[in-house]
Amino acid sequence: MKQDMIVVLDMGSTRNTDVARAIRKLGVYSEICNFDITASELKALPNVRGIIANGGPNDVVNGVKIGLSDEVKNAGFPIYTFDYNENGKINPMPECDGEIADAIRSFVFDQCKATPNWNMENFIADQIELIRKQVGNRKVLLALSGGVDSSVVAALLIKAIGNQLTCVHVNHGLLRKGEPEQVVQVFRNELNANLIYVDAVDRFLDKLAGVADPEEKRKIIGAEFIRVFEEEARKLDGIEFLAQGTIYPDIVESGTKTAKMVKSHHNVGGLPEDLQFELVEPLKMLFKDEVRACGKALGLPDNMVFRQPFPGPGLGVRCLGAITRDRLEAVRESDAIMREEFAKCGLEGKVWQYFTIVPDFKSVGVRDNARCFDWPVIMRAVNTVDAMTAEVPELPWQVLQNITKRILAEVPHVNRVCFDLSPKPTATIEWE
Ligand code: XMP
Repeated sequence: MKQDMIVVLDMGSTRNTDVARAIRKLGVYSEICNFDITASELKALPNVRGIIANGGPNDVVNGVKIGLSDEVKNAGFPIYTFDYNENGKINPMPECDGEIADAIRSFVFDQCKATPNWNMENFIADQIELIRKQVGNRKVLLALSGGVDSSVVAALLIKAIGNQLTCVHVNHGLLRKGEPEQVVQVFRNELNANLIYVDAVDRFLDKLAGVADPEEKRKIIGAEFIRVFEEEARKLDGIEFLAQGTIYPDIVESGTKTAKMVKSHHNVGGLPEDLQFELVEPLKMLFKDEVRACGKALGLPDNMVFRQPFPGPGLGVRCLGAITRDRLEAVRESDAIMREEFAKCGLEGKVWQYFTIVPDFKSVGVRDNARCFDWPVIMRAVNTVDAMTAEVPELPWQVLQNITKRILAEVPHVNRVCFDLSPKPTATIEWE
C-alpha cells in the first residue's frame, strides 16, 4: 500500500467527516473508525501514522460514557484530541471547516511524520492491488447505470481484472438522451468491457402504464430493475462477486456507533438469497468529489464524470402522473435542449441541478393560425449544498429565452414553457 493514513476516531462527534476531509485536504489519507476499535485492529490497518480522537455530544452509548481505551492510548500512535478532555486539556474543534486543517497541520506532519501522498494515482494503484487480492481469478458482476459512481467502479475494475468483470446495463427507457448509447460507446467500444446491454424499455413502460402515484411509480421502477438484473445474473455462470458504487457518505449516513441513521443505504437487499454475492466496493472510502477525480484519472469523459445528480427513477418522476410515451419523449428532448443551452453559455457545472418536467395536463395555444391543445414544459434549476434546502439561481434571460424557443420549435406536442421559481422548502427539487 502506498498511502499513509491518519485515523479519525469517532468519540461522539458530529464533525468526523469534516475532520477526515481536512486531513485529506492536507494530502494525507484518512478513515473514520469507531471508538471501540482495538489496538490490534488499528495496527492491522495499512500505514497508520496517527490518531485524531473526536469527542462530542454523542459520547454516551448504551448509557455508558465512552472514552479512549488504555490499549489504544498505549498502542504507540501519536494521538490528537478534539473536544475531548485529556489530562485537563481540551483542543476545541474550529467552528469553520476551513480552519480544521490549520489546527491539525503540525500534528499530522511534525508529530505523525505523515507523508502527503494521498492522490488519485496512488489510490488507484492501491485499489487495483486490493481488488486483485480479493477477487483472485474469479468473476464479478456490476449493474452499470452510467451514473458517476457505477461508471467509475466499472473503469477501476476493468483496469484491475479486465474481462473477469461483466457489466449489465439496463435501459429502462427513463434515462436522459444519449446515455445508453454513451455507456455502450465508452465501456464496450473504448474500454473493451464485457457489457450486456438489456433493452427493457417496453417492459418498464408496460409495467408503469396507467400508474399515476409517484411512490408507486418509484416502487415499480426499483422492483423491475432488480428483476431484470436478476434474470441477467442467472444467465451467467460462476459469478461470485457483486461490485457496487457505494461511496463514503452512503456508509456514514447509514449510521455509526454513536450517531443515528440519516438514511438507509440502498444496496442489494432486493436480490434473492441464492443470488447473494460477496461485495466489491472500491469507492467506499471516497467522497463524491474524489469519485469524480478518480473517474477523471481513469480517463472517463468529463460529461460522464461531472454530470449533475440524477434520480434513480430517472425521467420517470419528471413525466408527471401516468407515464405516456409522447410526454416521456417531450421530457427527454426538452431536458437535452436545456442541458445543451446551459453548456453553450458556460452554466454547466455552475448550477447544481437543472432539468425539465412535463405535467399531465394540456393547455390551449395557437400554432400556424390554428388553436392547439398541447403539453407544457416546466424548466427547473436549483442550487444547493446538501439537497435538503435549495435556492433558484438568477439566470440570464437570454438563456431562458433560447431554451424556450428551441423547445417550442423542436419538441412535438408542446405549446408552452414555464420556469419554476420555487425554493425548497416549500417545493421539493423534483415535482414527484
Ligand atoms: P427532492 O425532490 O426530494 O430531491 O428535493 C432531492 C434530490 O434527490 C434526488 N431525488 C432522488 N434520487 N431516487 C434518487 O436516487 C429518487 O427517488 C429521488 N427523488 C429525488 C433529486 O433529483 C434531488 O437531487
